[in-house]
Amino acid sequence: MELAIFSGKPAFVKPIPVGFPIVEADTRQRFHGLMDEAFDRNYLTNDGPFLQQLEREIARLHDTAHCAIVCNATIAQMLSLQALGLDGEVILPSFTFIATAHACLWQNLTPVFCDITEDTLTIDPDQIETLITPRTSAVIGVHLFGNPCQVEKLEAVCQKYGLRLLFDASHAFGCSYGDRPIGGFGDLEFLSFHATKFFSTFEGGAILTNDASIDQKVRWNRNFGFAGYDNVQYLGINGKMSEAAAAMGLASLPAVPRRMANCQSIYKGYRERLSAIPGVSIVPVGEQGKSNYHYVVLLIDEAVYGVSRDVLVSVLWKENVLARKYFYPGCHQMPFYCRLYPQKTWHLPVTERVSRQVLCLPSNLPHPEEDMDIIADIIATVRKNATRVQQWCAMNA
Ligand SMILES: Cc1ncc(COP(=O)(O)O)c(C=O)c1O
Repeated sequence: MELAIFSGKPAFVKPIPVGFPIVEADTRQRFHGLMDEAFDRNYLTNDGPFLQQLEREIARLHDTAHCAIVCNATIAQMLSLQALGLDGEVILPSFTFIATAHACLWQNLTPVFCDITEDTLTIDPDQIETLITPRTSAVIGVHLFGNPCQVEKLEAVCQKYGLRLLFDASHAFGCSYGDRPIGGFGDLEFLSFHATKFFSTFEGGAILTNDASIDQKVRWNRNFGFAGYDNVQYLGINGKMSEAAAAMGLASLPAVPRRMANCQSIYKGYRERLSAIPGVSIVPVGEQGKSNYHYVVLLIDEAVYGVSRDVLVSVLWKENVLARKYFYPGCHQMPFYCRLYPQKTWHLPVTERVSRQVLCLPSNLPHPEEDMDIIADIIATVRKNATRVQQWCAMNA
């Protein structure tokens, strides 16, 4: 194939983004039906019947006693940190979406960035002890790309030092660690239902826990801190989810098994097509339990592949394949955190290497088999023409 950077003609006419919402035709139909019900009932928000039904379903799916649904995962995390009554420092991986760090600061907690392990790309439990100080109150693990953290090791270190343990399970809807569904680990876990996630309510999030008192606090505080009519007991916020968003969740639930199977087949399809390209490795998912296979994540080893991850991403964009650098840079290297902690020298070598090598490919494809053939062909062609591609990049930088 001739690359678009040389011929000017992209492989795809329409751009294919990574975060392309998954909305099946039957999901859409069910959503319209549910919206009619909501309008007929004239009940549009404030702990409505759809919200309550969705909470029961999500708790059942993730095998937890409680599920409190809110307007997004960032608010879910803030309410979680508040419900646990944390102060001081919180240890979390730098290799995550920025919201995991920002939500700590919004709760007046200091984020302390930890490295990840090479194999899981999740927080390195063996490094946590070196970061604990008298001010440390909690650890947040992130089940990145649906891959579970090393849960037992994290539980052990948190128990040893009396720390609370939370999991950012934004990517892990429907995933499990061994036989145990994600949701019931640590003190609590939170999910994201953003439009680009595996399971979406346009915007949304949830706090899963087996602790009734945490659930109760989150419920009061997602509703301005009201503990009853005209009775504000706490510093709450508006974290509520509307009935329209909850209807989207209910409409999507029947599609979940089919969606998982489709995502798995795309993941496997990419893996087969890309495995023979030197310098390209696909991050394994689903090896420690069930996965939703929503993310197709590659690591590009420039020394072997011939061009850097950044160059490959530029070439893919010219082909209308809108690959994303998730997550680059690590939170500790984001300008905001560099300015906030100018004196701090972080030692996070795995995070820094992986964030330079990582890219996510689109996983919701209009014509999966054909599109994966084309995308794999682009990636292979770049490798075969590495010198020419480098020259083009040098001239067009
Ligand atoms: C790992 C992770 N945590 C938190 C969030 C924040 O989720 P939300 O957009 O629902 O606030 C995201 C969103 O992409 C995420 O990827």
